Amino acid sequence: MKVPQRIQPLVDDGLVDEVLRSLMSGKEAQVFLVRCGQEIRCAKVYKDAANRNFKKSVQYQEGRSVRNSRQRRAMGKRTKFGRDQQEQVWQTAELDALNLLAKAGVRAPKAYSCVDGVLLMEMITDADGDVAPRLNDISMSAEQAVKDHSTIMHFVLRMMCVGLVHGDLSEFNVLQDENGPVIIDLPQAVNAAGNNNAKSMLQRDVANITQHYAQFAPVLLDTHYAEEIWELHEKGELKPDLQLTGKFIFPTEAADVDLVLHLIEVARLEELERLRDE
Ligand SMILES: Nc1ncnc2c1ncn2[C@@H]1O[C@H](COP(=O)(O)OP(=O)(O)OP(=O)(O)O)[C@@H](O)[C@H]1O
Ligand SMILES: [Mg+2]
Repeated sequence: MKVPQRIQPLVDDGLVDEVLRSLMSGKEAQVFLVRCGQEIRCAKVYKDAANRNFKKSVQYQEGRSVRNSRQRRAMGKRTKFGRDQQEQVWQTAELDALNLLAKAGVRAPKAYSCVDGVLLMEMITDADGDVAPRLNDISMSAEQAVKDHSTIMHFVLRMMCVGLVHGDLSEFNVLQDENGPVIIDLPQAVNAAGNNNAKSMLQRDVANITQHYAQFAPVLLDTHYAEEIWELHEKGELKPDLQLTGKFIFPTEAADVDLVLHLIEVARLEELERLRDE
């Protein structure tokens, strides 16, 4: 096909030899199959900020690490430089997350580069070498559902071990190759330590995946992996090869209201101090 304008710089740089076809056009990006030498890869072209769901990006941006303080200051200002910096952080976030996942032992596409808002990554294929289906496109036995669900819960654990919560995990962002599930679509991955929404995002990720597999294996509805993993995180006991149980005992004792009020007061005083220091 004719080379799309956004991919032309990669062709000029010799990173891409040919654009084969458009694979998918999603909310945040368009994915193309491209040929790089002998290999077929995926090129994910991010839509620019104006075309993305901005509210979502603010929620996810919290706690995201930026490369230097000049960049951080610029991002806080409404200048063109600031917007460009923010855009660059967003665009390289997925490359960074994919590299981190590879190190953490989570199956995900191998990432090659991110140039001018285009991520080049390995194409995930099925046993015949065709583009792998999404989890949403396949059905399976109860036995396989339990096994693959457990695999993904371990991926979630390993992501937490390197401080990451996927943030948009669902049957649409997991592909199935001949060896099982492969995690994709991570531009919104959040830092578990720096983001106040991390726990609820983890719970939502786990709930999406569990509900999906529970269609084939309803027993999975009785599991509580998000709570189990979050508790391990809080106790500093996360380890990549832990055997998770999916069991969690929810605390039954009444909330300690005095303690909660005390914590709110401490937070208020800290905020006053912060405002004074600014
Ligand atoms: N590495 C890959 N190998 C094979 N197919 C892929 C790969 N990356 C993406 N795809 C396909 O392209 C689709 C869109 O990719 P992705 O989910 O990363 O982008 P997106 O724009 O954020 O999508 P959406 O907004 O719909 O979630 C995926 O559902 C998948 O079918
Ligand atoms: Mg997606």
